[in-house]
Amino acid sequence: MATAATPSAPDGAPAPEPVPKQTKQTVDPYNVTGEVGADGVVKAIDYNKLVDEFGTKKIDDELLARFERVTGKRPHHFLRRGIVFSHRDFETILDRYEKGEPFFLYTGRGPSSDSVHVGHTVPFEFTKWLQDTFDVPLIIMLTDDEKYLFSEKKTIEEVQGYCASNVKDIIAIGFDPAKTFIFSDFDFVGGAFYRNIVRLSKHITLNQARAIFGFNESTNIGRIHFGSIQGATSWASSFPHIFGEDEKQTVGIPALIPCAIDQDPYFRMTRDVSARLKFQGKPYAKPALIHSLFLPALQGPGTKMSASIDESAIFMRDTPNQIKNKINKYAFSGGKVSVEEHRQFGGDTSVDVAYQYLRFFLEDDDELERIRISYENGEMLTGELKAICIRELQKYVAGFQERRAKVDDETVKLFMERRPLQWRGNPKAPVVVPKVVEGEGAEAAAAAADGEAKMTKNQLKKLEKQRQAEAKKAQKAKEKAEAKEKAAAAATAATTAAAAPTTEEDKAEQTADAAAKTEKTEAAAANAAAQEA
Ligand code: TRP
Repeated sequence: MATAATPSAPDGAPAPEPVPKQTKQTVDPYNVTGEVGADGVVKAIDYNKLVDEFGTKKIDDELLARFERVTGKRPHHFLRRGIVFSHRDFETILDRYEKGEPFFLYTGRGPSSDSVHVGHTVPFEFTKWLQDTFDVPLIIMLTDDEKYLFSEKKTIEEVQGYCASNVKDIIAIGFDPAKTFIFSDFDFVGGAFYRNIVRLSKHITLNQARAIFGFNESTNIGRIHFGSIQGATSWASSFPHIFGEDEKQTVGIPALIPCAIDQDPYFRMTRDVSARLKFQGKPYAKPALIHSLFLPALQGPGTKMSASIDESAIFMRDTPNQIKNKINKYAFSGGKVSVEEHRQFGGDTSVDVAYQYLRFFLEDDDELERIRISYENGEMLTGELKAICIRELQKYVAGFQERRAKVDDETVKLFMERRPLQWRGNPKAPVVVPKVVEGEGAEAAAAAADGEAKMTKNQLKKLEKQRQAEAKKAQKAKEKAEAKEKAAAAATAATTAAAAPTTEEDKAEQTADAAAKTEKTEAAAANAAAQEA
């Protein structure tokens, strides 16, 4: 994810150091810096201003309440704390989830170096949580082409090398392979995906690209075109192996894109084009977005972490000692110059990097609040606050390293293979597919469902099975009664015709069995979710 922290600029780009010149804040896919005041000091990024400028919506309490109602899950602490703070059409996705209509998750990362840091993993953590919550397919794009095009020095071989190691880092977050497809642009461009790339590019003029991304006459044309590649990944019809070949169906399936706010321009553009495009009369679904802010660099909230500046970041391969030293040495403090002054006036948590990191990594709301109060009223000193931050980061990084060590080439192959995915969406959604009647194919039934993508036979069968089980569960009592009746009828009929009724009876039993099983799995899932929350 471009995340809170991909070095957005051409790699090896300037450090996030204050430029002693007054400038406005810049946030686009290639640059992220806060406003530089007349005093030459970089200010914190003003996210409210971005919401206004970009025309996105703030995530408010009402939306979070609706999220909780619809999913039955407490919003992630990133949502509760305004780390994931803005969106486009997230309500529409909740509507779809509520109704059991298909959508998918899409995110990505530009493989610009081997050194993945906590700013990179944070948005992926959130994406994983969304995948667990919604139970939908997830597509992860690795823009090796982008990183080649936007770097002066990097070779294609280099970015491909980064790609290979970054995939393992991403997998180590804990995504479910049955629901996740990861690809690199150099490997995957072609076929339906390429057709969509070209479709998108045909609807963007040079003037628009310049206005959106700030390109000029000297920009290489690869960069100018790149947006159509990142954009076309938002369309489900780019992935026939997941959503099926029937474009009339798949163009209607929207993506929900969790990303850092700097990626918004790509998708603003894609949404514009989607609104103008139709496939045989069927409109393209606009991607929905959910934006996160950046994890600040150790030097302060004016810039994001950068992989090319070692002192700015906590890397996922850092040792506990390195983490400790970096936080102690570099983490910008909101504390006062002397202990006396600090005790008297207290610290400023809004700029204190150690405190800011705790907002990302410390899940316990009560503990975080205790720390805030204690630091702000001067009871807690900077050293103590940093010690807590160090402990939490060490824990987080160690957990990651443990999982990362287990990711082998086989696992990578599994995630990157073109294959159908398995998901079931909202288990409580009304069953949109009519129950399969004896003799009728599951395919026919599924095809009847409005807005349903055409899928492979196997996927359809699976989906249909799941749906049937859900339907059975919902009407369990009724089903049981019916089954009994049927069995009774069968018993009667058995006196005249032996074979068929027995089958009928067996089926009734199997149905009840299946229903019981589904219930059990559901209870287990609910349990797991409860533990997580
Ligand atoms: N451009 C992003 C980067 O430089 C990578 C990316 C591609 C991405 N598609 C995305 C990020 C979708 C977020 C969402 O890191």
